[in-house]
Amino acid sequence: MSNLVIAIDGPAGAGKSTVAKLIAQNLNIVYIDTGSMYRALTYKLLKENIDLNNTSKIIDVLNSTKIDFRDNHIFLDDEIVDDKIRTNKINNNVSLVAKIKEVREKLVKIQRNISKNNDIIMDGRDIGSYVLPNAKFKFYITANPEERGKRRYKELIKEYPNIKLSEIIEEIKERDKIDKTRNIAPLIKTEDSIEIDTTNKSIEEVVKIILNYIEKNNY
Ligand code: CDP
Repeated sequence: MSNLVIAIDGPAGAGKSTVAKLIAQNLNIVYIDTGSMYRALTYKLLKENIDLNNTSKIIDVLNSTKIDFRDNHIFLDDEIVDDKIRTNKINNNVSLVAKIKEVREKLVKIQRNISKNNDIIMDGRDIGSYVLPNAKFKFYITANPEERGKRRYKELIKEYPNIKLSEIIEEIKERDKIDKTRNIAPLIKTEDSIEIDTTNKSIEEVVKIILNYIEKNNY
């Protein structure tokens, strides 16, 4: 029998990773957070003060960088960087790095390799459309920008007491724009994906909808 492959795509703050993690636990399958891979590279570039408009320099760094996601941890050059990649600075710069062709080629190769031998759920922007187009199940999880902004605000306020909700909403909209309009593998809802608007839904409700769908469709 072929592997169980579930793709979860959608814009920032829609709740993809929380939902995907719970589904992975429930079905006892592997969870891959592809956004954390783009974030890890962005973290390294910012730490090394690389100008994010300098594509050739970014490619140089990329070529000597090891990125991996295993056991629910993101590894950058063999160091776990789970917490370091969640800063607001990375939120607001990661899409610039993620639109570079060479960056995507390298990370997509890693993502496809992991999917070969595992039952997995993978979340990101281009999983159903580009990374794993043959996934048996594809979900597009969204929510309106105000709701997504509020969720991100709640995550960030402890660390950044001066942030403003209106700014976070604008930053989310800006990131959506870059992700949806880039040339390579932009964020889109594919025709064969199930859309779930989570604006007025709890995490538990969304998880239930997905698990019920998978069960109904004979897995
Ligand atoms: O957690 P959040 O939804 O804010 O973002 P994320 O899933 O960690 O992804 C961060 C960024 O990485 C996105 O805004 C995209 O620019 C990029 N990304 C991508 O281009 N392709 C993916 N498969 C996953 C993320």
